[in-house]
Amino acid sequence: MSSSSYLNQPAGGEGDVNTSDNRQDWQNQHLDGASQQLLQRDSDSFLHQSVSTPCLAAVRKVEGLWIEDVAGNRYMDFHGNNVHHIGHGHPRLIEAVTRQMHQLPFAPRRYTCDVAVELAEKLASITPGNLAKVLFATGGSDAIEIAMKIARIATGRFKTLSFWDSFHGAGFGASSIGGEQMFRAPIGPPLSGALHVPPFGDYRNAWGVREGSSQLCLNQIRYVLQKEGDIGAVIAEPTRAVPYVPSPGFWQQVKAACHEFGALLIFDEIPTGLGKTGKMFSCEHDNVVPDILVLGKALGGGMLPISAVVCQPELDVTGHFAIGHYTHEKNPVTARAALTTIEIIEQEGLVDNADRIGQQAMRGLQVLQATHPLIGDVRGRGLLFGAELVLDRDTREPANDAADRVLYKALSRGLSFKTTMGNVLTFTPPLITTETDMQRALAIIDECLSEVEKELGLSF
Ligand SMILES: Cc1ncc(COP(=O)(O)O)c(C=O)c1O
Repeated sequence: MSSSSYLNQPAGGEGDVNTSDNRQDWQNQHLDGASQQLLQRDSDSFLHQSVSTPCLAAVRKVEGLWIEDVAGNRYMDFHGNNVHHIGHGHPRLIEAVTRQMHQLPFAPRRYTCDVAVELAEKLASITPGNLAKVLFATGGSDAIEIAMKIARIATGRFKTLSFWDSFHGAGFGASSIGGEQMFRAPIGPPLSGALHVPPFGDYRNAWGVREGSSQLCLNQIRYVLQKEGDIGAVIAEPTRAVPYVPSPGFWQQVKAACHEFGALLIFDEIPTGLGKTGKMFSCEHDNVVPDILVLGKALGGGMLPISAVVCQPELDVTGHFAIGHYTHEKNPVTARAALTTIEIIEQEGLVDNADRIGQQAMRGLQVLQATHPLIGDVRGRGLLFGAELVLDRDTREPANDAADRVLYKALSRGLSFKTTMGNVLTFTPPLITTETDMQRALAIIDECLSEVEKELGLSF
C-alpha cells in the first residue's frame, strides 16, 4: 500500500472529517491568530490521525455544558465524548479529587486502598442483577480487552461475535471486534476469530428492510453462534451509538442464544453507562443483565481516565493469570473521581433528568421532522439521540454534505455535536442539560436545517 493511502483515510462511521471545505470555511471565519498558531504547533508536534489531529480549534475553558475556545467562541457541548455526564469541571469533583491527592495520591501494586474498594462495592451495588466482581483500568479500550480475556479463559474459546459499524476502542483486540474500517485498516490482520454480523437499525441496514431488522440481526447471531459452535462471547453496545435502539425483547433473545451455544454476553456501556440513556445502565431498558458489563468515559467525571469491568461472580476464574495488570489499577485519585461522580449522578437526580430532557429532545426532533424534508429519521434514548439526514425521504439517499454543513453552521451559532455514519446528526449532551438548554439547541438545529435546505433548494 502506498504511503498516500495511509494519509487519506476515509471518515468511516465517525463522519467528523478533518478536511471538509465547510470545516475550512468555519475555521477561517471563527479562529483568531492565537488559535491558528496553537493549531499549527499542535499539527507540527503530534502524529496526524483521522478525526483527531489536525484539530478543529483550541480549547481554553470547559465548564458545565460549555466549551470556550481560544478565540473566545462559546459552544454548548452536545458531544463531550460522552465523558461529561455531570458537566465539565464539576466543583464538587474538583474538590474531592484535590483532597484525595493530598491524602493518598497513589497505591503501589500489591496494596489496596479504601477508596478503590469502596468504588468496587459501589459498582456492584448499582449495576443490575448480581454483577459483582470488578477490575479497573484506565481506558475503555483496555477494559474491553480485559473482558475479552476473561471470556477466553472462562469459556476456553477465543472467538467473538460483534457488530459491523461498531467501535469498541483503539487497542488491537478492541479494534478487531470493532467494525469501522477507519479503525481497522491498514494495521494488518485483526485478531483471528473476531467475527461480525450486520447490526440492527430499521432506517438503514444491511438487509435493505424498513422494519424488522432486529429480528434479522437476531437470526444471524443465532445462526453464526450455532454454525461456529465455539464462540466465546458476543460483544455489543445495548444501545448503538449511531444511535439505534433495538426492538423490545431483542437482547433477551440474544442472551438466551448466547447461553444456548455456550457464549458469554458482554455489554459495552462505555458511553451509555451511568445514566446517559435515561436509566443508570442502558441494558436496563431491555431488562437484560449481561455476563460482563464494561464502563468507562464518564466514570472519571470527565476529568480522569478510569474504566471498569463488572462481572458475574462465577467469572472470577482468572486468579492464576494477570489479565489487567495495569499500573493505575487501584489508583486512589481516579477511584475517588469515579466514586464522587456516581454520588453526584445519584444525588443530583441526573438519570431522571436525562430521561426527562431526552423525551423533550425527541419530541422536539419529531416536530422538526415534520417541517424539514432533510430529516429522514429521528431516534435515540435519553440524552443519546440523533437525526438522520437524507436528500430524498423515499430513496433515503444519505445527505452527507448537508449534515456537514449543518454541523459547522451549528458550531457558528454555539452548538457543538458530531455526525456519525456521515449523515446522522448525533447529540450526546451532558446529564445536567436543562429544558432551556435543550430548547436553545433545538432552535439552533432548526435554523441550520432551514439554511441548508435553502442552499440545496429542498422543500416538501
Ligand atoms: C462504545 C465504545 N467502546 C469503547 C470505547 C473506547 O474507550 P476509550 O477511548 O476510553 O479507550 C469508546 C470510545 O469512544 C466507545 O464509544
